[in-house]
This record gives sequence, structure tokens and C-alpha cells, in this order.
Amino acid sequence: MKIFKDFDFKAHNTFGLAGQTKYWLEVSDEDDLPRAIETADELSGGHFMFLGGGSNVLFCGNYQGALIRLAFGGIQHSALDHGQILVEAGAGVSWHELVRYTVERGWWGLENLALIPGSVGAAPIQNIGAYGVEQEDVFESLRGVPLNGPPSEYLKDQCAFAYRNSVFKQQMTGKMVITRVRYRLNTEPQPRLSYKELKEYFDPKDHDLGHDLKPDQIANKVAEIRRAKLPDPAVVGNAGSFFKNPVLQGDAADAFRSNFPNAPLFEVQGEDRNWKASAAWLIEQCGWKGHRRGAIGVSPGHALVLVHYGGGQGEDLWMLAQDIMRSVHDEFGITLEPEVNIVNP
Ligand code: EPU
Repeated sequence: MKIFKDFDFKAHNTFGLAGQTKYWLEVSDEDDLPRAIETADELSGGHFMFLGGGSNVLFCGNYQGALIRLAFGGIQHSALDHGQILVEAGAGVSWHELVRYTVERGWWGLENLALIPGSVGAAPIQNIGAYGVEQEDVFESLRGVPLNGPPSEYLKDQCAFAYRNSVFKQQMTGKMVITRVRYRLNTEPQPRLSYKELKEYFDPKDHDLGHDLKPDQIANKVAEIRRAKLPDPAVVGNAGSFFKNPVLQGDAADAFRSNFPNAPLFEVQGEDRNWKASAAWLIEQCGWKGHRRGAIGVSPGHALVLVHYGGGQGEDLWMLAQDIMRSVHDEFGITLEPEVNIVNP
């Protein structure tokens, strides 16, 4: 375990916002975790939080407590029955590194989730998803260490996965650290091509899906789609989608559809009469797409992505986010909810 005082976290949040934390503790060995938590607790008087890849967090100014950076590494795998593979990765492994590891070996399951920034440990917390797939689709289990208590295993049905949500984002938030995550993958082809651009590109007429396709082809195509739409955090600071897509229920969904017949709406699987509206569309309709306010703005490529061009402040970004939320509410009566964790708003 390493401890630093007055540590600059600019390199540890994908917005690239400068700021200092009073204490920074870096833990790469699970056995050190209880001591790290105890130390952070003592140093900060109980004001501490955990950080993975920093791809889903907005710091509004300095952090006056202790940040515990989780850096557990390692990827292992073992064969299961029926051509399935169990892959286990440390929470600190970069998500895309895990995706690459699996698609290079020809295993199916994570290919649609290529190039999502962040760490493996963060994936189950907000049940990351893209291009027709959510991590819960192939999730097997995870290992968590509660703040006070022995490590325990969480199976899928204990995780309450939902759209960008899980038990770890609700009741368990801040109470447990995820150290390892396991996915059950397939060696047999299982392409998931429901997303329009994937379906069009991998036209079944040209591919005998059972034999032709390899998971890395899908991962590469997904990466290409992402690069075309979403800014690369290494070039322009951002945290991917800043807001969740709002779910409209029953009559509210019907009313929205009749008032705005051109608005995209996506069915929420398994939930009768629930529809997901497109937050990007709502924001774009309000005129925010490409809007720039000094060092921060809304990406010209995708209205759901707030960007930091450099030299800006987290507080200003949060102010812009709130202005966007207000105008979407005034225009459509819909309340947007941030997907990103806002620290010290
Ligand atoms: N759209 C606009 N304006 C834009 C962008 C999109 O009107 O600037 C409309 C289009 O009509 C498009 C619809 O929004 O058909 C949906 O856009 P897109 O397919 O890009 O997906 P999204 O709903 O905006 C979600 C995830 C993304 C994920 C994509 C692809 C959320 C909050 N975001 O975005 O995840 O990559 O689907 O599956 O669910 C992330 O979470 O950080 C993230 C990037």
C-alpha cells in the first residue's frame, strides 16, 4: 500500500480535471485492503471514498478526505462444461484490457462492450452496457470485501442488476469494495447484433453467423462506432454518457409519444409499457449539442457527453449539467438523472 499527501488526481479522472485530495492511498493487494480502509478512516475522520478507473466521477473542486485507489490486477481463466469459460479479473484491470483478452482468445460475451473506459470493478456497479448488451448478460459472480467483515461472494441473483444500476449502487454503496469479478463466456459463436449499425454491417446475407464471425470483428466494429461518435478521453476529457436515458412509464410514455412522434423510444426489456427515451435527443432538441462554455461544453459528436477541453473547473461542468437538466425539464417535463457520480456538488 502506498500513501501520498496532497495528491493531484488529474491523471485519475477521465474528465482530466485538476484537483487535490488530502490523502491518496493506493492498494494493489487485497490483503492490504482492511488496513487501507482503517488508515483512510483515521486520517480523514471517516471522510473517504474508493476510486477505480475514474471514468464515472466528477470532482467539483478538491477532495478534503482520503481517496482509496483500487488497483487489484490479474486475469485468470478456467474451462467449464458445455464449451464455456470462466474468466476472472482483478477490479483494477482496465475494462478494455479484459475485453481484448477474451476476444483475442475467440471467446464470446464481452465483444459488444469494447472500448468502454474504466476498470473491471466499476462494471457491475453501474451494470455497464452498450450496443445491445449489458455486463449482466454474462456476469457470473464477484468477490467483495465489506468495510467491516470478511470477504464474500455475490452471485448474479444477489446483485439486482438493472439499467445502469445494481445493489452496489444502492443499498451497498460505499459499504463494500469489489476486488474480483467473474464472467461466464462462450467458445461457441453467440453474436448479438440487435444494435442497428451492427445488424447492418454484419449482414447475415454476407456472413454465415455460425461459422464466419469472430468476436474480435465485432469488438473492432464497436470500437469504430464508438470512435466515430464519442470523444476519446485521452484527447478530450469526458466520462462517456453524463446522464442516464430516462425511462418513461405507462401513460407518460404514451403522452410523450403522441406529443413528439419523431422522438426515438426504445423498449425496456421485460418491463411492460416502459420505454427508454433518448437523453441525447432531448438535449439536442434543447439546442445544447456542441455548446461550449469556456473550458467545458457538450460534445459536438454526441449530445449526451459533457466534455472538458482543459484548464476548467468541475464546479462549472456541474453547473452546465444542471442548466441542461433544467431546460430539458422545462421543454419536455422529463427529469434527467446523472449517470456520473458527482463528488462535492
Ligand atoms: N441521438 C441524438 N443526438 C445525439 C446522439 C444520439 O438525438 O447527439 C439519438 C439518436 O436518435 C440515436 C439515439 O439518440 O438513435 C441513441 O443514441 P446512441 O445509440 O448513441 O445511444 P445512447 O442511448 O445515447 C447509450 C449508452 C452509451 C452506449 C450507447 C450504445 C446510456 C446512458 N448510454 O447511449 O453508453 O455506448 O447507448 O449502445 O445508456 C456510457 O454509458 O458512457 C455510454 C457511452
